[in-house]
Amino acid sequence: MSLEPRLSGRALVKTFGSTTALAGVDVDLADGESLAVMGPSGSGKSTLLHCLAGILVPDGGSVRLRGRDVGSLGDRERSLLRRTSYGFVFQFGQLLSELPAVENVALPAMLLGTPRKDATALAAQWLGSLGLAGMEGRRPGELSGGQAQRVAVARALITGPDVVFADEPTGALDQSTGHDVMRILVETTKAAGTSLVVVTHDAQVADWCDRRIEVRDGLVVGTAVRSR
Ligand SMILES: Nc1ncnc2c1ncn2[C@@H]1O[C@H](COP(=O)(O)OP(=O)(O)OP(=O)(O)O)[C@@H](O)[C@H]1O
Ligand SMILES: [Mg+2]
Repeated sequence: MSLEPRLSGRALVKTFGSTTALAGVDVDLADGESLAVMGPSGSGKSTLLHCLAGILVPDGGSVRLRGRDVGSLGDRERSLLRRTSYGFVFQFGQLLSELPAVENVALPAMLLGTPRKDATALAAQWLGSLGLAGMEGRRPGELSGGQAQRVAVARALITGPDVVFADEPTGALDQSTGHDVMRILVETTKAAGTSLVVVTHDAQVADWCDRRIEVRDGLVVGTAVRSR
């Protein structure tokens, strides 16, 4: 493990009008580490995730990926960085409904220049390893919620990202299906050496992660390392 964190946020501040969503947050993410972000509704969890992922530009503070200052990048460079270095698993509307599962998974690799044939083969492998062999040709509407989320996990991982960001990926599922997807997300990112930031309200999900932070009113008010 390198001494420098893979991803770090320092003194992150983000305001929306008169609302202070982040009031000065420091967070580090080590190589391969999984971090659960917890806290009440409106506390700033999604804002933190979006700032770390370069989706939002913070008003103050800095974000570094492998020591590189993400804030110094222009919009185009930042969006390229998101495609090459990050994977995302969000709750709704993330899969393209008109494309079969295998093409949904292959797409991010193709956008980075992997030929269709190779990307499709790799996508089929990922689907297989997530328990979806035989479902490659199904469109998202022909999959259960849990299956669709596993397709989304495969899609987030196919490019071999440095970090996967997940915001309540199981919120739309029943608890047991949600737990299955979360366990697969945590285990698969760990096996791939990918770091993970996951926003969750579910203490059991946080238990599977290496570390958790508690966010309140835009500040980190607690942190806990998993006991083994
Ligand atoms: N685009 C926006 N415009 C205005 N206010 C925003 C915007 N995004 C977030 N906020 C405000 O910033 C604060 C933090 O929001 P955020 O979405 O980060 O909370 P959260 O912890 O993710 O909540 P939840 O658990 O409900 O998803 C809230 O007061 C919210 O209303
Ligand atoms: Mg949120």
